[in-house]
Amino acid sequence: MRIDCYLTPNDVDDLALRERTAVVIDVLRASTSIVTALGNGAKEVIPATTVESATKISANLGGDVALLAGERNGRMVPGFDLGNSPSEFTGGKIHGRSIIFTSTNGSQAIAKARYAQELAVCAFINMSAVVQLIVGRPRPFAVVCSGKEGGFSLEDTVCAGMLISRVAESLGDDVSLSDAAVAAVTLHKALGRGLLKMMKNSEHGRFLEEIGFGDDLKLCAQIDTVPVVPLLDAGVLRLKRAEARIELVTQSMNR
Ligand code: MLT
Repeated sequence: MRIDCYLTPNDVDDLALRERTAVVIDVLRASTSIVTALGNGAKEVIPATTVESATKISANLGGDVALLAGERNGRMVPGFDLGNSPSEFTGGKIHGRSIIFTSTNGSQAIAKARYAQELAVCAFINMSAVVQLIVGRPRPFAVVCSGKEGGFSLEDTVCAGMLISRVAESLGDDVSLSDAAVAAVTLHKALGRGLLKMMKNSEHGRFLEEIGFGDDLKLCAQIDTVPVVPLLDAGVLRLKRAEARIELVTQSMNR
């Protein structure tokens, strides 16, 4: 199995993804928040690239069923219901609701990777569930790191490295890694034992601490606390198909 890693969304070759599974990562904080929202019972997450398009979708859906969530410059967009702290997406607030979500980098990366045969969202908090999903089907996959404003980001690449090394470990000799995938694995080997420390040293982690969201780093640095995989289906992220597949994989592994 060929494993690629795009270190920034600008590197993504949209059409090359058509035959592949794309795994989008924005550890701080979009992918962690999306996984948390669906893990806590949100009906769906609808990613939007701009505040304007998010607001338009919300108006079409009706404010009583949909919540507007996301950030610009790390802070909640004025008029939105929720920001982009994973701690905001509690069951009490979001259970059964559609969440229209827009963020500076994460939702742009999802849009960039939307032509993939299948698109999954990954963070440290759902790592093993994503590994199971990938290992359960023989299709080349590419990791898309959301990065920061078009550039490289440390925490996304370390997360990509953890995913790639776990998949490679499970599949043994059957994998062939691109140079960027090898680089991500190497970075994870160097920094993966202290995820919180790595995030605190990262540019975006330092920014989030500066603006008062330091506690979010602790949530984003946890591993396997929310074992679900958001999958994009007709422009909407939901859990349903992933759960069914994961269950099948688990059953066959237990046999
Ligand atoms: C993003 O998508 O750019 C991030 O999730 C930013 C943030 O930390 O809110």
